Amino acid sequence: MIPRIYIPGDSGALALGAEKVAKAVRAELAERGIEAKIVRNGSRGAYFLEPTVEVATATGRVAYGPVKPSDVKSLFDCGFLTGGHHKRWLGAPDKIPFLARQTRLTFARCGVTDPLSLDHYKAHGGLKGLQNAVAITPADIVKQVTESGLRGRGGAGFPTGIKWKTVLDTSADRKYIVCNADEGDSGTFADRMIMEGDPFVLIEGMAIAGIATGATKGFIYIRSEYPHAVAVMQKAVEIARKAGVLGVNVLGSPNSFDMEVRVGAGAYVCGEETALLDSLEGKRGQVRAKPPLPAHKGLFGKPTVINNVISLASVPVIMDKGAAFYKDFGTGRSRGTIPIQIAGNVKYPGLYEAAFGMTLGEIVDDIGGGTATGRPVKAVQVGGPLGAYFPRALFDTPFDYEAFAAKDGLIGHAGIVVFDDSADMLKQARFAMEFCAIESCGKCTPCRIGSTRGVEVLDRLAQNVEPEKQIALVTDLCNTMKFGSLCALGGFTPYPVMSALNHFPDDFRPTPVAEAAE
Ligand SMILES: Cc1cc2nc3c(=O)[nH]c(=O)nc-3n(C[C@H](O)[C@H](O)[C@H](O)COP(=O)(O)O)c2cc1C
Ligand code: SF4
Repeated sequence: MIPRIYIPGDSGALALGAEKVAKAVRAELAERGIEAKIVRNGSRGAYFLEPTVEVATATGRVAYGPVKPSDVKSLFDCGFLTGGHHKRWLGAPDKIPFLARQTRLTFARCGVTDPLSLDHYKAHGGLKGLQNAVAITPADIVKQVTESGLRGRGGAGFPTGIKWKTVLDTSADRKYIVCNADEGDSGTFADRMIMEGDPFVLIEGMAIAGIATGATKGFIYIRSEYPHAVAVMQKAVEIARKAGVLGVNVLGSPNSFDMEVRVGAGAYVCGEETALLDSLEGKRGQVRAKPPLPAHKGLFGKPTVINNVISLASVPVIMDKGAAFYKDFGTGRSRGTIPIQIAGNVKYPGLYEAAFGMTLGEIVDDIGGGTATGRPVKAVQVGGPLGAYFPRALFDTPFDYEAFAAKDGLIGHAGIVVFDDSADMLKQARFAMEFCAIESCGKCTPCRIGSTRGVEVLDRLAQNVEPEKQIALVTDLCNTMKFGSLCALGGFTPYPVMSALNHFPDDFRPTPVAEAAE
């Protein structure tokens, strides 16, 4: 049998040098006259081990990493094509502790299969969910998704089944499924990883959503900064269409569903669902007032399901294994698994899919291994640029929507960014206001004007100009933004600002100039 070598082709691994490694492997194969098949899989998400090269041996896959191009010659010398030992030897990938401890439901195939092989997808359980869906009524699909407890993974945590039911119950000549792949949150990469590593699972999830709600057309709105994801999704849609997974008779059923990929123009606010819809319609991406909800009047005024990539990609496993199976994972009202993205100043960065309920401390210290710099962890921002900063004192907070809300935080898209004790939280608070000022769509005053005033107030604080007055002002401003903004960009910017102020007050009282000079 021809040896099979897996070298990730996703943008995370490519950024770490996977292309150069692939080139070196090809050159070495040619020089040694060895015939082998190189598969460009997705990453399994242990980015501290990328580029990870895997080989299929008689006893299973064996991984090596992180591999540098200069390692390739010696890998061949050590007989890596049959799993030989080498300083980069990691053994069976699923035994690597970072991967072995996970519960992979949504990411089960990511890093394992060839992303663009539909046969590989099917051989690893793909399309079973869709097959089950076409055999039951739309109402029963919606019931299963509702009973699974799946909540939107894009930020707000709204129950997916309830959203779908609203669209199913709204009659119209045309309905749409829109997948939100704008993924603008800092430290997040789950959407990109699944689109590049297992695109068919998203296509399957969207097709199920279409059949469940009576929508016949889908759009995947991908941020322009994701050219690899765009290319993979476009190819995967074509393959799925040719194979009859998409089209007038989905899997030979009477259901029709097709989709296309659209590329955003690069604005954070276009991740907000109504701004995204405006952008998809070819307009400037500005937030729409609600009501009407997109479920009633969405894209082109038609009932529209708009869901995050991970929400949709989690549906196939629910439809395959059942609502009860999925619901069995998790805690409280946070059911199933969540792909936690560990980033920032952290020793073991990567994607970690686990059932809800782990504490923040377990994620940062045990899984993430603390900071990369080796200095103490000072703060962790959870949920992107609009998420709160958590100090070590809150590390016992379980990863659960309600538990985070009770601590004035949010899970958002489950990205966590770690900071060591050199971080200046006043600067971070200023950054939050500045980010809001730059990204504001400008529709409402608290966000458009408030964020700029917030930067000015924090600048005065940094210069130690009447500090108590500035603290009172920024607190008041945050209240206005929180309760007066039209969407969560203005409404949630107070979270990073106020959490930084409340948990790290010392950073907001800079040393007086005279004292600093002593
Ligand atoms: C400023 C802003 C940016 C957002 N960016 C994203 C994004 O990049 N991806 C996403 O899925 N949701 C984003 N959201 C949330 C969406 O508005 C919406 O809640 C989500 O797409 C619904 O899908 P879900 O129910 O599957 O989470 C953003 C919200 C706001 C206010
Ligand atoms: S809060 Fe900001 S981004 Fe949201 S609608 Fe108002 S101006 Fe636009």
